[in-house]
Amino acid sequence: MSITAASIRQSFVTVFGAEPEIAARAPGRLEILGNHTDYNQGVVLSVAVDRATFVAARKLPGTVCRVVDVALGDERTFDLADLAHPLKGDWANYIKGMVVEFGKRGISIPAFAAVMGSTIPLSAGMSSSAAFEMSFGTMLLALAGQSMEWRELAKVGQACENRYVGANTGLLDQFSSLKGKAGHLVFSDFRSLEVRNVPLPAGTALVVANSMVKHNLTNEYNERRESCERAAAVLAKLYPGVAALRDVSLEQLEAARAKLDPVDYRRALHVVGECTRVMAGSAALEQGDVAGFGQLMFASQDSSTHNFENSCAELDALVAVARDIPGVLGARLSGGGFGGITVHLVQADHAEAYAAEVARRYRERTGLESEVMICRAGDGAALL
Ligand code: GLA
Repeated sequence: MSITAASIRQSFVTVFGAEPEIAARAPGRLEILGNHTDYNQGVVLSVAVDRATFVAARKLPGTVCRVVDVALGDERTFDLADLAHPLKGDWANYIKGMVVEFGKRGISIPAFAAVMGSTIPLSAGMSSSAAFEMSFGTMLLALAGQSMEWRELAKVGQACENRYVGANTGLLDQFSSLKGKAGHLVFSDFRSLEVRNVPLPAGTALVVANSMVKHNLTNEYNERRESCERAAAVLAKLYPGVAALRDVSLEQLEAARAKLDPVDYRRALHVVGECTRVMAGSAALEQGDVAGFGQLMFASQDSSTHNFENSCAELDALVAVARDIPGVLGARLSGGGFGGITVHLVQADHAEAYAAEVARRYRERTGLESEVMICRAGDGAALL
């Protein structure tokens, strides 16, 4: 189903028999380089994609809200006076959590009717959840006649995810969804909370291949984060000036290896390596060294497989088959891991043939069908 700014407004009229007051969209994202570095105060290169969650809404009297998802053919009704008890696994948590977190910041959201729809694959690693939060966040602020600095809105989304959904994720997904720019990557620094847009290298395209293994970030993701925090605490005692894994060099990590739990050491090695690769990768892009950048993407995947252990056989297979397809520059898993998607940087004139070939080789190797798509770098969240 194709969902657009015009179609979401039209759907609202069809469902509720009135014009919406406000409409918004927020895109999904791909993590291009820098895996699990955000909550370690590190750096990431990501991109907002041309797939998004759209929402149209109008205020209602009283406290009861109704939300209809036209893409999934599903709906929820909930009362603003009863938001304290999230239903485990329910998609309405993303909306209720945003309302609760706005409330904690002194912003009271009126009751509303909304129609939503998304073109982002769900639970795949393209941040359908951050797009959900940021589209509703943008819409709800406007509906309440309020505004908020973009970083604060990102933190509202993160708090919704951490407290209401139960995944202790960082800020990458919300930052990418808010600060994307057509034709550009987003370089984010999660210590200074500064972002800048970097042009996507000319003549390249992004191919996304979905392993179709659904990921769930509430268990293993939280475990990985705890490992990183344990390692950082040990390293902070050894090295003055270390506040997070972001501050540790590969040499310091090696020198401290015997003092770290062996598993925590490998988790830290991944994060420290990823921060190094992001810095090397952005230097490579500045110099127009796209091949060098692609090699860093492959190195990132290797480190996920062996050090962070957030890959899986299917993700490994998608990257393995990619390595000698004509036009490939680099490929790796994207996002939390444990399933979901891989992102491939390819020469643009090979993109169509490449996409078909990845799917064919994945099928041949695993017997599984991969959903493959060519994604463009799109603009960040906005009112429509
Ligand atoms: C998920 C989280 C992000 C980030 C990535 C891994 O997408 O939501 O905060 O940690 O995983 O880089």
